[in-house]
Amino acid sequence: MSTQQQTSLEALSNELRRFEPPAELAASANVTAEVYEQAAADRLGFWAEQAQRLQWDRPWDEVLDWQPPFAKWFVGGQLNVAVNCVDRHVEAGNGDRVALHWVGEPEDDTRDITYAQLQVLVSQAANGLEALGVTAGDRVCIYLPMVPEAVVSMLACARIGAAHSVVFGGFSAQALVDRITDAEAKVVITADGGYRRGAPSALKPAVDEAVQRCPSVTNVVVVKRTKQDVEWVEGRDLWWHDAVEAQPETHQAESFDAEQPLFLLYTSGTTGKPKGILHTSGGYLTQTAWSHWAVFDLKPETDVFWCTADVGWVTGHSYLTYGPLANGATQVMYEGTPDAGGRDRWWSIIEKYGVTILYTAPTAIRTFMKWGDDLPGQHDLSSLRVLGSVGEPINPEAWMWYRRVIGGDRCPIVDTWWQTETGAMMIAPLPGVTATKPGSAMGPLPGIAVDVVDGEGVSVGKTGGGFLTLSEPWPAMLRGIWGDEDRYRDTYWSRFEGQYFAGDGAKWDDEHVLWLLGRVDDVMNISGHRISTTEVESALVSHPKVAEAAVVGAADPTTGQAIVAFVTVKGNVTDDDDAFREELRNHVAKEIGAIAKPRQIVLSPELPKTRSGKIMRRLLVDIAERRELGDVTTLADPAVVQEIDRTMGELAART
Ligand code: WT7
Repeated sequence: MSTQQQTSLEALSNELRRFEPPAELAASANVTAEVYEQAAADRLGFWAEQAQRLQWDRPWDEVLDWQPPFAKWFVGGQLNVAVNCVDRHVEAGNGDRVALHWVGEPEDDTRDITYAQLQVLVSQAANGLEALGVTAGDRVCIYLPMVPEAVVSMLACARIGAAHSVVFGGFSAQALVDRITDAEAKVVITADGGYRRGAPSALKPAVDEAVQRCPSVTNVVVVKRTKQDVEWVEGRDLWWHDAVEAQPETHQAESFDAEQPLFLLYTSGTTGKPKGILHTSGGYLTQTAWSHWAVFDLKPETDVFWCTADVGWVTGHSYLTYGPLANGATQVMYEGTPDAGGRDRWWSIIEKYGVTILYTAPTAIRTFMKWGDDLPGQHDLSSLRVLGSVGEPINPEAWMWYRRVIGGDRCPIVDTWWQTETGAMMIAPLPGVTATKPGSAMGPLPGIAVDVVDGEGVSVGKTGGGFLTLSEPWPAMLRGIWGDEDRYRDTYWSRFEGQYFAGDGAKWDDEHVLWLLGRVDDVMNISGHRISTTEVESALVSHPKVAEAAVVGAADPTTGQAIVAFVTVKGNVTDDDDAFREELRNHVAKEIGAIAKPRQIVLSPELPKTRSGKIMRRLLVDIAERRELGDVTTLADPAVVQEIDRTMGELAART
């Protein structure tokens, strides 16, 4: 654990503020304190009960088949995920309920889609995919902006038993190639473009570039969003409005096994190659639906839920598409950036639609803090009743601001810890039950077993810090890494015997309340997005002029962490060559995506190494975070460090 984590850990343990659940909410909450005891007494019985919230076409024979580290949940059960998210609500008489209040980035570009309309859209898309030869078990890549077709495409795949692999629209052509190739996707669904910060930006060129190198792809389906010109490959490319909207409005859904693959979602690991995290159907939908209902205290008849995550990340899968729709919720889905049309855009959306539950990330909250209290103050936010946070540890200042300025001191905050791999929330308070402390996700949800262990895997007990592990299988857990069983075992199950290693540090305080302390591996968390240091290093060294690169995550007041790269170059580039730095940043954007652009690049003739030749990463973090450097005399070349520190200081002074 880093020194920074140690320090913040001391500060956090001293947190004395505590907020009780609001009485009114506690009195009408979906779940009460007994649920913890019930789940502890019979964990599998608890999950079996939650699975009953879904519509099963065939009941399961066994709740859990656990052959460590391989789990099967609701063995023998059959269901259709899309029917659970759409059709059954229509059949129950709620077809007129709005499923999505879609808000485009351009002002007044909106669409309200009811559950009955969603049923038609999903059926047509399912028919369209089948017409292209997509069948159960195939993979479909979705590379779309935040448009309703993204959700419709995901559900259409689910409906026909094909697994989707959504690739965040900000990823590069190269990232697309890697993901399409690994998944052997048959069809890519994309758009001509999307709106970002008031301007249309293109998406199709990246697909065109990528698909040339992806022989598995037979067709590309293109949603017309921005009406910009696109290249067209006859026979391969189809417009969504031709391929989908011309299809019959009904589709006969089949039942699939509870363990039918639902999606792959690629995420960064500690090596350069992204991992295709595999999720399946019955257990995943059970836990996403239950947690969404319990942790947000969702009342589907009256609540308006807004999860601000992009569908390209797991939060957009579990708490925009699957959990909320399985619960028949009414949601807001917003296409653009928080400052499009004004820095109060979010607050005007909340006011307009009467949003009652907001789920967002600390990085967004800190950005709004910077923009000031006035902007939210100009809007009526009194509809809000529960506020959620996800993606990284939320610092107590941001938590308090969120509570006071956005929540009017009346809304409980649920800080939810989970991962792409866990599929659903694992650690979070229950808003009608748990008294919360600013900055803490409090404790494991009912039915979830977590532990904090030392380096040897021994539990630290009720108080103390160490590594976070998950000690029992859970319904929404990943079922593996696509095509790489060994990597699945090695990454998650080999560090501590019989336990899932999350990659996070954690600590129980004196009251057995849990504090998450960030990653303990080489994975950075930039604005709640996972990027591995190795991935960025590989991108940098793939530039012809780069000799060596070391990348670290440095604390950043807005994005949580920011990428700082230390680079040595072949030949002569002076360290004040801004153009070259910009070239390198763009090179990383091209290789991975704009989110992976380093905040700063320090050019240096050498990297600091120990006498045995190991790059001193801790030292680079200290330099990047502008900390006083300790004794550097043991280094092979102390002058190198001083020079790097000086350059970093100059760059830091500029931003
Ligand atoms: C990593 C997982 C979960 C969806 C978004 C990120 C960090 C996530 C919290 C939180 C402290 C958090 C962890 C975790 N993280 N939520 N509430 N408190 N840390 O999913 O990209 O798979 O990243 O995000 O470090 O391991 P992801």
